[in-house]
Amino acid sequence: MNKLAVIILAAGKGKRMRSGVVKVLHPLLGRPMLSYPVEVSLEHLQPEKTVVVVGHQAEQIQNAFSDPRITFVQQNEQLGTGHAVSMTEPVLGDFKGTILILCGDTPLIPAQTLLEMVKHHEDQKAALTILTALREDPTGYGRVVRGRGPAGKIHKVVEEKDATNREREIKEVNAGLYCVQAPFLFQALGRLRSNNAQKEYYLPDIIEVALRKKKKVESFPAPDPVQIMGINTRAELAQAEGVLAERVRQQWMAEGVTIQDTTSVYIEPSVHIGGDTVIYPNCYLRGETSIGTNCRIGPQVEVCDSQIGNGVQIRFCTMITESRIADDAIVGPFSHLRPHSHVEKGAKIGNFVEVKKSRIGPGTKANHLAYIGDSDVGSGVNIGAGTITCNYDGFRKHRTIIEDGVFVGSNTALVAPVKVGKEAVVGAGTIVTKDVPPHALAVSRARQKMIKKWVMKKGKGRNKERG
Ligand code: UD1
Ligand code: CA
Repeated sequence: MNKLAVIILAAGKGKRMRSGVVKVLHPLLGRPMLSYPVEVSLEHLQPEKTVVVVGHQAEQIQNAFSDPRITFVQQNEQLGTGHAVSMTEPVLGDFKGTILILCGDTPLIPAQTLLEMVKHHEDQKAALTILTALREDPTGYGRVVRGRGPAGKIHKVVEEKDATNREREIKEVNAGLYCVQAPFLFQALGRLRSNNAQKEYYLPDIIEVALRKKKKVESFPAPDPVQIMGINTRAELAQAEGVLAERVRQQWMAEGVTIQDTTSVYIEPSVHIGGDTVIYPNCYLRGETSIGTNCRIGPQVEVCDSQIGNGVQIRFCTMITESRIADDAIVGPFSHLRPHSHVEKGAKIGNFVEVKKSRIGPGTKANHLAYIGDSDVGSGVNIGAGTITCNYDGFRKHRTIIEDGVFVGSNTALVAPVKVGKEAVVGAGTIVTKDVPPHALAVSRARQKMIKKWVMKKGKGRNKERG
């Protein structure tokens, strides 16, 4: 392979998105659209240089992609794709080798296809190779105009807005991705004219420049037309996300994960899932999440930036963020684990239990209706229904410590900072304001009064104690 440089075009606003956010920053499976071609370049193609052309919201793009391997160049006025590429001349003017031009809005292209295209380009010793595809509906794409015969030579690419009715019927489209010989590219760009419907300098017009100079122009067909999909609208964004999501699900199913009702399950590419885990419908697995083997997740569960061990069950309607759950724990249904919750081995967090910034020790159970915040709960603890840690005094957060083997009765309020010692018992309804020593019983509740033979009187008047 010759030396390789990659240019990624990302200066356009993306008017058809009708958005305040520049098109290439719109997320696809949780990552900006532009990160897909950037990753293909940096991780798979590993060229000498990766040059990204930015214009609209350049600063936001540069902040989102602060990798030292990327060189950014500015295109202050968006005068077309040809003009955009010419902005890279100060960086690539002296480069000798193959330049691969990618588009920030074409994120579905796999590295494999690009490598094959580069190989074809170099084997053929072409000056220019364009990636093409046959699309049942070519609307919106530049059409590839060829000479007569089934494998006629390429004459040009015509944009839809400039095309004749006959040209619009052509189903072979330009993917907008090209391999070009380096010295030739910048010579050709100097020859472009903007005498077209959009008054722009069209990059594909370098085809005609090459042919006039008797240079070899090749085409390379994408193996699947979906790979070259360009995203211009929100509808296309949704469609592309569907394609990427399906690739991710297929990958995990191939790795031994069961996914029920696949289309309702959303898995970001950064997620890792162990074998024999089952993902039930309507689950969202996002960010830096890893799930172990033999887990049951869902239905209707969201897990974000969390590490989940093996054999864990996360049941219906549970939300987990930035937390860790050890092996064999059960969480849900209807639980909420907020950031920095650490549920240890075999612990159980049940319905309507919220945990925040707390450790829940091994084998501990909080099965119903509780709030555990800023707490350190030991092993084998029983947290009764209605237990609340009062961790906030209106100014500051305070910690609650519950040591191993404690039994916390129902409807207990633990007013932090407070500590309940090992194997202590807290009676139901207690408001714990003082530390409880190990093995003690703490109860604070009004004594129950008994009024005998109490009869409800019908009609007016007060109830009366009868003698
Ligand atoms: C382009 C091609 C078309 C091809 C299609 C494939 C041209 C003239 N047309 O059309 O033949 O079928 O892609 O998706 O190239 N950009 C800049 N600066 C500019 C203009 C565009 O950086 O001045 C960037 C955009 O941010 C975008 C990419 O170039 O990432 C393509 O531009 P876009 O306007 O979407 O071109 P299409 O009309 O889709
Ligand atoms: Ca486009």
